[in-house]
Amino acid sequence: MSTVLAHLSDTHFDGGDRASFRARQAMDHLNSLPGHLDAIIVTGDITDHGLPSETEEAEKVLASPTVPVYMCPGNHDGYTPYDGPLNRAFDIGGIRLLMADSVLQGRDEGLLAPETLQWLRTELSAAAGPVLIGLHHPPADLHQPFIDNIKLSNSDELAAIVTAHPQVLAVLCGHAHMAAATTFAGRPLLVAPGVTSTVLLPWEKDGGVPIDKGMPVMIAFHVIDDGGHITTHFRAFPTD
Ligand SMILES: [Fe+2]
Ligand SMILES: [Fe+2]
Repeated sequence: MSTVLAHLSDTHFDGGDRASFRARQAMDHLNSLPGHLDAIIVTGDITDHGLPSETEEAEKVLASPTVPVYMCPGNHDGYTPYDGPLNRAFDIGGIRLLMADSVLQGRDEGLLAPETLQWLRTELSAAAGPVLIGLHHPPADLHQPFIDNIKLSNSDELAAIVTAHPQVLAVLCGHAHMAAATTFAGRPLLVAPGVTSTVLLPWEKDGGVPIDKGMPVMIAFHVIDDGGHITTHFRAFPTD
């Protein structure tokens, strides 16, 4: 039996109607599907400024009566008091999902802290079955300089861990606000589109901030079959 995950990222709840409307579009779609989803994952930048009111709204909107929603923090989700990384493991059927905290407090680029790297090693040593790793920051260049400048800075350390553990099926991330797929340490690296906006590519925009707020809301679906193969589909929703 296959496992189906919906993957959202970068909802950036900011108290305004626009961010809320776009996130609701995605969640309304997921909550009205006639078929079964195993989990919904949200790879960070859930809020825009980490304010309690933004978090409260996000918790209301990013919810499902039937499907568990698993999140990791992004660079916009400041949380105080900071008492260490928020690393959490979840079981989705036979798949272990490791949602790692890649936030470097006060910075846009990412870093997996030594305790997070150790948590990943410990979890992977104990995992007999397939594992998915989720984190906010892409650990590889996506050929968008604006994003490549603020990717995960210690991706070599993550690559060494992934290489040592063949049961890692894929790495799932956000932060880039673009639907993208590449490989990382020989595994698929699947980048969720941004719910709130899309970052344009160098050949799509001539100078300036490459953020497009008019493009459709997008999400990804990941299907994992019994052989451990992962297939990703992207969905876009009209904005009006
Ligand atoms: Fe973001
Ligand atoms: Fe981000």
